[in-house]
Amino acid sequence: MSRVVVIVGASSGVGRATARAFAERGDRLVLAARATTTLAEVRAECADADVLTVPTDVTEPGALEALAGAAIDHFGGVDVWVHTAAVMAYGRFDELPGRVFDQVVRTDLLGTADSVRVALRHFRAAGAGTIVLTGSLLGHVTAPYMSAYVTSKWGLQGLARTVQQELRDSPRIRLCLVNPGSVDTPVYQQAANYLGRVGRPPPPVTSPQRVARAIVNCVDRPRREVSVGRLNVVLRAGFTVLPGVYDMLVGPLMRVAGLSGRPVAAQDGSVFTPNPAGEAVRGGHLPDLRQLVFGPLGAVGAALRRRLG
Ligand SMILES: NC(=O)c1ccc[n+]([C@@H]2O[C@H](COP(=O)([O-])OP(=O)(O)OC[C@H]3O[C@@H](n4cnc5c(N)ncnc54)[C@H](OP(=O)(O)O)[C@@H]3O)[C@@H](O)[C@H]2O)c1
Repeated sequence: MSRVVVIVGASSGVGRATARAFAERGDRLVLAARATTTLAEVRAECADADVLTVPTDVTEPGALEALAGAAIDHFGGVDVWVHTAAVMAYGRFDELPGRVFDQVVRTDLLGTADSVRVALRHFRAAGAGTIVLTGSLLGHVTAPYMSAYVTSKWGLQGLARTVQQELRDSPRIRLCLVNPGSVDTPVYQQAANYLGRVGRPPPPVTSPQRVARAIVNCVDRPRREVSVGRLNVVLRAGFTVLPGVYDMLVGPLMRVAGLSGRPVAAQDGSVFTPNPAGEAVRGGHLPDLRQLVFGPLGAVGAALRRRLG
């Protein structure tokens, strides 16, 4: 049965892969993010699906309410609300401008909270619905130079668990938290940076399509929390059981595996304004196997077509 799925953060990375995954299943989509041009591209990628795009900034008061209103006006209701919108900032806590820290928390934590509030109001009235949020491994462990993001993800972990407890009286309304480790998306290059070196996802890196599958599975079989990433359990165990060892190792590991050697001038990245040019499904940190296999085949096909006329 076709569902109406709202995806907040649909223009890039996990949200964009999730839009394509729901479109392939024949669901009707409401796609939201700030960058209007990129939303139009994603709409074209989901060409077979019935798609409404609604430019939305989750930090603007009333924006998510307006998004829900547009979805209900257009499709008559909402069955699933997915929230993947987030931004990142690199820098030592005391060197990161306060306005950047605040905007990351406003986007990643308060924006998500607003999404949950708006979705819940609608689902309580309708008597059913599923909310899927993207947290992070960094909602369970910490890493230096990412204080605003880590603060948001730990807050989100608490919010999700609290709402899940409050929903025990409404078994047909579900909230699922998907917690990925490192994912190959553009978020690292889009981040604000006050550290001087461009960030990157520390290995092992998973694909946004894999996280999208976990999100779609949550809708079919809702679960309280889903972890996506081979080392998540190990890192959580190390953080909890051996905090001294974890703290000793995490700084050097972050500098070697979590930061590239590429220098970058102090900048706000996409924290305050979107950067459509940097938006894509993947971030270029993993080889795209589909592209590796089908890219050369497509090139051969195009060459043959040119030769034949
Ligand atoms: N990539 C990873 O390694 C990783 C790991 C763990 C968890 N996650 C989580 O996965 C989720 C998706 O991240 P991603 O890696 O896919 O990031 P991404 O590729 O940078 O995509 C982020 C999305 O959020 C939107 N967004 C940012 N600020 C917004 C705002 N103020 N209002 C509305 N939309 C906004 C962006 O669009 P506009 O800029 O056009 O608004 C974009 O569509 C996030 O919750 C992230 O924390 C990612």
